[in-house]
Amino acid sequence: MSIYRLEQLTVRHLGGGRPAALHAIDLAVAPGEQLALIGPSGAGKTTLLATLACAHAPAEGVFDVFGADPWRLSEGERHRLRARLFLAPQTPPLPPRQRVVSAVLAARLPHWSLWQALKSLAKPAAPDAAFDALARFQLGHKLYARVDRLSGGERQRCALARMLLSSAEVFLVDEPLSALDPTLAQLTITTLQQEAAARQATLICSLHQVDMARANFTRIVGLRDGRIVFDAPRERVSDAMIAALYANDSAPAPSPARQETPERLAVGACY
Ligand SMILES: Nc1ncnc2c1ncn2[C@@H]1O[C@H](COP(=O)(O)OP(=O)(O)OP(=O)(O)O)[C@@H](O)[C@H]1O
Ligand SMILES: [Mg+2]
Repeated sequence: MSIYRLEQLTVRHLGGGRPAALHAIDLAVAPGEQLALIGPSGAGKTTLLATLACAHAPAEGVFDVFGADPWRLSEGERHRLRARLFLAPQTPPLPPRQRVVSAVLAARLPHWSLWQALKSLAKPAAPDAAFDALARFQLGHKLYARVDRLSGGERQRCALARMLLSSAEVFLVDEPLSALDPTLAQLTITTLQQEAAARQATLICSLHQVDMARANFTRIVGLRDGRIVFDAPRERVSDAMIAALYANDSAPAPSPARQETPERLAVGACY
């Protein structure tokens, strides 16, 4: 069974008009798979991650998560389904005056009673768990710092620590490395991949750093102008494919018709 099955999926932003942000997307993702989304700015990476997180309803096409179309479920069922997915946005919406410890422990809120949640606001429950998650991103020393006093990269890692404490089965991570130095970037990717592997979670990560994507992920999906240009095992992603993916707008866009199709390149796992 696939975690995700997308067929000829089109996604439009409200008020975004034409063209659609994503066109005719075909994508299947197996449980436990780890893949990187790459592509130039505006390609549709964030839109795809938000769609996978069930934050955007698609306009057309097939969209199944855990074997069901979330947009045909009741609101309650969709809410429960969303709890199995964790979207870590590039700029996490953390309450500014909150302490890091509370922000990280908020991942446990769905499993707490109202009383436990209120008590934790006054005196954080399980601060050790929050510390351990933060320490995996070298941020343990910020446990009691205020969120609005963190740097951009620290905020992002705080959100990733929160993800580690969630019970999500799918990690959807939007550009986790953009505000990090190379050493921290590698540590962050390794930590995410190890955690996903340990709990057999699926990891889908958008990255601007193509070298990091190719070095760390076995499956690479290239997006451009809202379309999947390639979906391939990394050893089949050539420098020419990368150059075409990122060719500037004055150069002709790579035509999917003239390239190997995503289907011909697709990774075989559990399709
Ligand atoms: N809220 C929105 N309303 C309307 N259009 C949007 C909205 N968000 C994104 N878009 C458009 O959808 C397209 C895809 O944007 P998206 O943010 O998904 O790209 P991206 O690949 O994540 O880019 P970046 O690398 O810059 O983060 C772009 O044309 C963008 O202008
Ligand atoms: Mg984006």
